[in-house]
Amino acid sequence: MKIGNVTLESPFVVAPMAGMTDTAFRRLVKRQGGCGLVVTEMVSSEGLVRGIDRTLEYAEYTEEERPVAIQIFGGDPVKMAAAARIVEGLGADIVDVNMGCPVPKIAKHNAGCSLMREPEHAATVIEAMARAVKIPVTVKMRAGWNDRARNAPTLARMVEDAGAAAVSIHGRTAEQSYSGTADWDLVARVAAEVGIPVLGSGDCVEPLQVVERLQSGVSGVLVGRGVLRSPWILAQAADLAAGRRPREVGLRERGQFLLEYIELLLDERVDEAEGFRHVLMPSPAEREARGRERWVINKLRALCAWYSKGLDGGSRLRVRVNAASSVIELRDIVDEFFFDVPSAVGA
Ligand SMILES: Cc1cc2nc3c(=O)[nH]c(=O)nc-3n(C[C@H](O)[C@H](O)[C@H](O)COP(=O)(O)O)c2cc1C
Repeated sequence: MKIGNVTLESPFVVAPMAGMTDTAFRRLVKRQGGCGLVVTEMVSSEGLVRGIDRTLEYAEYTEEERPVAIQIFGGDPVKMAAAARIVEGLGADIVDVNMGCPVPKIAKHNAGCSLMREPEHAATVIEAMARAVKIPVTVKMRAGWNDRARNAPTLARMVEDAGAAAVSIHGRTAEQSYSGTADWDLVARVAAEVGIPVLGSGDCVEPLQVVERLQSGVSGVLVGRGVLRSPWILAQAADLAAGRRPREVGLRERGQFLLEYIELLLDERVDEAEGFRHVLMPSPAEREARGRERWVINKLRALCAWYSKGLDGGSRLRVRVNAASSVIELRDIVDEFFFDVPSAVGA
């Protein structure tokens, strides 16, 4: 599959998820195989234009993640075009626009899913961005704002005309948030109606569902919560699509994933060869000062809320991770739960 001039080796994509799909997580998912594209957490166009450090952190990625789409949000065509130029300057393969976020904090600023309520304006934003950069501009939208305005088919055509290279559609409305189910018939309809690639999103939590959704006529499938529960889902979907038995994942491998995630979050390495700063962790003193350890703990808590689902004793893992107060304790909890190693902290 191609999005503009970018080739995706697999049609299976890690969906953007704020707070979850950071560079460490994306790298680990990519290493499992089967992943054709990763998308960053949404990044503020305003923050990029103003050069705010924290915003730039959300846009961090590493070479091994390529192809990478950086997702931005905002509603001002001039600032979105400027932000797209910054994204291009950071070396990203694709710049994606968030037209799906229903959260009032974002939507009230004329950004996120609010843009779906003003399709003409949304198309103006895409046109300004497509003129500003050479990399493909893509759009991630919902089915519509609410049931009375399920305008994804119209908006998809409009952004295609404005220069978008692909659209992704989460088949729920903003009003639905995450309730009900994603409308894949609508997604398939859009795929049949527009000339650019359409990727579908919503409710794929098993590898077989991912493969089956691909048969609905879409060019690709985005997997969100399913990846948080099982980072192997894309690799298993790729196995199924190739007629292979999906690889099995044991408890130890699941534990190893968490340990590696902790290590990557703590990583101090600066990979200068990659030409873009990847300082996830400064010196130990600074780490303390900036509360990085707390940040790592919070990251593990957020992931474990999803990751523990479906695991025997998953709620016990969740409770223990939520109570952890240091990285050492976190590692112990993982060792004990997944490797059956007695906890040093508890001893
Ligand atoms: C925790 C979380 C954060 C999300 N953040 C974003 C985001 O930043 N940008 C975006 O376009 N979609 C975001 N989404 C929506 C997902 O990309 C996806 O479209 C949606 O979850 C439906 O797919 P799923 O059923 O596979 O999770 C988020 C979803 C979740 C669960």
